Amino acid sequence: MYVCVCHGITERQIRRAVEQGARTLGDVQMKLPVGGCCGQCEDCAREVIRDCQRAKAGASTAVAA
Ligand code: FES
Repeated sequence: MYVCVCHGITERQIRRAVEQGARTLGDVQMKLPVGGCCGQCEDCAREVIRDCQRAKAGASTAVAA
């Protein structure tokens, strides 16, 4: 799914950036130009980042348990 239409950035690309260590939208923007044009995608991008972080936290909890 495209998150940022202006730059053609997909949810998968954002998830990959989070897996590589990005924690905030600003971190993701260091790797991808998401939100760098009209800004309409920023809320959706933040939601993808949060969802990915929750998944990572759940995975590490499952490993620790
Ligand atoms: S949709 Fe992402 S900057 Fe416009």
